[in-house]
Parts: sequence; structure tokens; C-alpha cells
Amino acid sequence: MGGGAPLPPALWLLSCFFTLLCLEEITGFDNNMVHSFPLTLQLDSSLKEQTGALIPEMPPNSSPQPLIPLLAPSPLAPFSNSSTPKLSGQCTLNFSAVESLMKTTAVDCWASFAPFLANVICCPQLQATLAILIGQSSKNSGMLALDSTRANYCLSDVQQILQSRGANPDLQHICSIHPSNFSEASCPVSDVNGFESVVDSSKLLAACQKVDPVNECCSQKCQSAILDAARELAFRDGGLPSLNVAHLSSERTSRIDDCRSIVLRWLSSRLDPLSAQQVLRRISNCNVNAVCPLVFPNAENVGRECGNKIKNHTTCCNAMDSYIVHLQKQSFITNLQALDCASLLGLQLQKMNISRNIYNYCHVTLKDFSLQVGSQESGCLLPSLPSDATFDPFSGISFTCDLNDNIAAPWPNASQAPSSSCNKTVKLPALPAATSAHPGKSMMGMMLALLIDSLLTFMLLV
Ligand SMILES: *[C@@H]1O[C@H](CO)[C@@H](O)[C@H](O)[C@H]1NC(C)=O
Ligand SMILES: *[C@@H]1O[C@H](CO)[C@@H](O)[C@H](O)[C@H]1NC(C)=O
Ligand SMILES: *[C@@H]1O[C@H](CO)[C@@H](O)[C@H](O)[C@H]1NC(C)=O
Ligand SMILES: *[C@@H]1O[C@H](CO)[C@@H](O)[C@H](O)[C@H]1NC(C)=O
Ligand SMILES: *[C@@H]1O[C@H](CO)[C@@H](O)[C@H](O)[C@H]1NC(C)=O
Ligand SMILES: *[C@@H]1O[C@H](CO)[C@@H](O)[C@H](O)[C@H]1NC(C)=O
Ligand SMILES: *[C@@H]1O[C@H](CO)[C@@H](O)[C@H](O)[C@H]1NC(C)=O
Repeated sequence: MGGGAPLPPALWLLSCFFTLLCLEEITGFDNNMVHSFPLTLQLDSSLKEQTGALIPEMPPNSSPQPLIPLLAPSPLAPFSNSSTPKLSGQCTLNFSAVESLMKTTAVDCWASFAPFLANVICCPQLQATLAILIGQSSKNSGMLALDSTRANYCLSDVQQILQSRGANPDLQHICSIHPSNFSEASCPVSDVNGFESVVDSSKLLAACQKVDPVNECCSQKCQSAILDAARELAFRDGGLPSLNVAHLSSERTSRIDDCRSIVLRWLSSRLDPLSAQQVLRRISNCNVNAVCPLVFPNAENVGRECGNKIKNHTTCCNAMDSYIVHLQKQSFITNLQALDCASLLGLQLQKMNISRNIYNYCHVTLKDFSLQVGSQESGCLLPSLPSDATFDPFSGISFTCDLNDNIAAPWPNASQAPSSSCNKTVKLPALPAATSAHPGKSMMGMMLALLIDSLLTFMLLV
């Protein structure tokens, strides 16, 4: 986007910091100066080399390079400080079976980061961890669900453990966890024997043992096997007690949903925890990428300035700029979500009589839909298969951004049905690298290591 609105103070400060780091690169600026700065972004040193090597391969006509935060070794002791969780002593789940998943989850849901990574990384990982925790525990207990008293204790214990490792204390709210995430809710089957007497479990396992991260979202091989199994469980006695029709349909849906959780737990008991995590995350990714998670505020202003016939380029694009800035405070999103969001907003604007391609007109790129870190040039779109966040005591929390997407946001065509990315005959405009699992040379993997709790708290205050 073309510079637009002045940066709010906190972002301005951050943006200065980026500049400072860049200066460091150019001039060999003294590291001490960087150290003394309270806000730090770091780049893993091996990736720094990689990134450096990749820059010349960017097409010459691409937009200006995003700023690349540079390595600044930093004293980060407080980050590795775990406290002792206060456990209820009443939860019988086997936490030691999912030790490493809990660690990953705590980092994915780190402190004040959690709300910004909630939709794409934190909550999918938490959800997977809960299913695997219950699934692994069922190997001993034979149960795929907890009664409601235990569910409450276990919910509290999970939160305590994660929080003691640095996770946000409000995950219950951020990821909407309820005791029902541990119980059978409305699913009529809750134990392993009952499950295996209803579901063709070898068929289910065969479909879901390995999930192809790219093709699963279109082929739905594992997902349809899960749905079949959930339906079989939900209606094992042949339907519901008689209710009125409208009621029946919502009852059906939620019962199938609840049984779907049971299926995921069973599946998790048949795989080792890490494979289970991979399977569950790949499946949830399909749902994540299919929906734009941003909340669009009222676009009245844009409609007024850009609708019907555009009177003034500057005022129209200023209105658009300040609208987009609202979106940029919400969440990190994947490149595919950004496509969804661009299309959704475009259609909304077209309804306000904006017929011209405003994205083009005002230079709105896909990356403009992401949370902006630092300056307006440094949006971070996550790859469509986002990796977990990582933690190390020296560089703090990092995650991978797909910065290969300084590409124009596609303006949707209202008279055309939205094309699914599964339709191979549809050419999506310069679709960002479909996967991070096979980083091609076009993908500039970059670790934005965001070190400070204060950074995002800071942005929240803006
Ligand atoms: C953890 O925190 C305590 C008190 O807050 C402090 O004394 C201790 O040095 C910290 N440990 C690490 C590894 O930072
Ligand atoms: C918990 O899980 C671990 C690792 O899978 C296993 O070694 C241990 O026996 C289990 N503990 C109980 C009480 O079942
Ligand atoms: C808990 O269950 C609710 C629906 O009952 C679901 O929306 C939510 O995502 C679940 N949360 C987790 C972390 O599994
Ligand atoms: C557009 O609006 C700006 C700011 O209101 C004004 O300075 C400029 O002269 C206008 N341009 C035209 C062509 O009217
Ligand atoms: C859009 O344009 C049509 C025809 O020019 C007009 O009737 C309608 O009121 C306009 N709608 C908005 C929201 O401006
Ligand atoms: C939108 O789609 C319609 C129908 O497919 C097509 O005729 C029209 O040229 C398209 N418009 C643009 C701007 O691509
Ligand atoms: C794929 O897209 C093409 C062109 O838009 C359309 O004609 C075709 O029906 C689509 N196929 C499917 C399976 O959606």
C-alpha cells in the first residue's frame, strides 16, 4: 500500500527499530546499541544466510523488499522461566504421554502472542493436544471421554500446565475450551469397545494413518472417513428420538460434531503422539485455510470516497488505507486466508457500488491483510501450512513468514462463482507457494523472531 496514514506511535517506534537493524547490516552498526533497545526482532542466523542467498532471485519487478530484521544476540533469561503448575490431583489423564506436545502448545500459544496466532496456530494445536491427551490415556482407561466432574479438573490442569510454561492464561476464552472438550457431550459412544463395535476401525485407520498435507484438503480422504465414522456413532441406534424437524437438524449436526471429537480421540490412540499431532493439524489446516478469520468493520467511508464515480484518487485511497489499517491489527493469517479475505472484502465493496478494481487503484497487496509487524512494509503472511512457533532462550519465539507475496490482492468477479483452489482448471493469480513443507526457491522462508511480550501488548494499545 502506498504509505498512507501516519504510523501510530508504537508502530512508529518499531519501525524505527527495523531501520536501526537495517543500518546495522549496512554499516556494521555497533551491536550494543541494538541490545539496549527494548524491542527486539531476531532472525535465526542460518536463515539469515538462506534469506540473503534468495534475495537476488526475486523478480526485478517485485515491490520493495520487506525489511529483514537482523541477528542481534540478546539476553533473554526471563523467557525460559517456568513456574510450578498447581494441579488438582483429580485428573487421571496421562500427561506424560503428551509431554512434548504440551511444550509445543505452550509456545504456539505464548503469552500475549496467543490472540494473534489463535486462529491459525495456537488453537488448532491446543485442540489436537487435547484429543491426543485423551486418546493416549484411553489406552489404559478404555475411555474416550471423561465424566463432567473430571472434565472440569482436567480442563483446569491443562491450563495450569500450559500457563506454567509460558502460555497465555486466558486460553479457555481465546480458544473456547469447555469441559465438553473432554467429555462425550452428546455423542452416544464414549468408550473404546463401544467405538470399535460400531465403526469399521481398520478402514478409518487406513484412510487417516498418513495424511497428505497438500492433497487432503481437496481429496478429503481422511476427512470423509472421519465424518462417516462420526455419523455411524451418532446414529448407531438408528436416529434420534422424535423432535420437530428444525430442532432435529441442529441436534443432528451437533451430535455428529461431538462424535467427530470422539473419532479424533480414538484415532489419536492408534498413532504415536507426534504422528497424531501431524494428522490432526493437517486436517484442521484445511478448515483454517478455507475461511477468512478477519472481522470487517463497516466500510461506509470507503464506499463514500470510492463508490459510484471516484472523484479524487487521494481521498479514495486514504479511506481505503485507513480501512485496511483496522484489519491489520487483528491476526496473523495464512496466504490462502489472505486470498479469502481479499475476495470477501472485494465483494462487500462491490455491493457499495465500487466497480473499479480498488486494490489495483490503491496498490493493496495480499500482505496488507496480515498483521503488520513493525512498519507497513513488513506484514507477515504465514505459509498455508504454518509451522509451529519455536522457542529458544537466545532468539525467543519465532515462526515462519511467507514473504513471497508482495502481489496485488485479486479483485473478485461478482458475476463468477468463487473458484475453489481445488479446481485445477482455475488459475489463481500468482498463488503464493502452496506449502511450506516443500520450500521452493520462490519461497523466502524468514523467521521473524519476536522476542518480547511487550511488543504485542504494545500494539494492542495502539
Ligand atoms: C525465574 O524467576 C525467578 C523469580 O521471578 C528468578 O529469581 C529466576 O532467576 C528466574 N529464572 C530464570 C532461569 O530466569
Ligand atoms: C503414560 O504414558 C507413558 C508414555 O506413553 C507410559 O509410559 C506410561 O505407562 C503411562 N502411564 C500410565 C499411568 O498409564
Ligand atoms: C471445544 O469444543 C467447542 C465446541 O464444543 C469447539 O468450538 C472448540 O473449538 C473446542 N476447543 C478445543 C480447544 O478443542
Ligand atoms: C483531492 O483531495 C485532496 C485532499 O482533499 C486535495 O488536496 C486535492 O486537490 C484533490 N484533488 C483533486 C484532483 O481534486
Ligand atoms: C448504487 O448505484 C445504483 C444505480 O446507480 C443506485 O440506485 C444505488 O442507490 C447505489 N447504491 C449505493 C449503496 O450507493
Ligand atoms: C466476470 O465474469 C464474467 C462471467 O464469467 C465475464 O463475462 C466478465 O468478463 C468477468 N469480468 C472481469 C472483470 O473479469
Ligand atoms: C472448475 O472451474 C471451471 C472454470 O471456472 C468450471 O467450468 C468447472 O465447472 C469447475 N469444476 C469444478 C469441479 O468445480
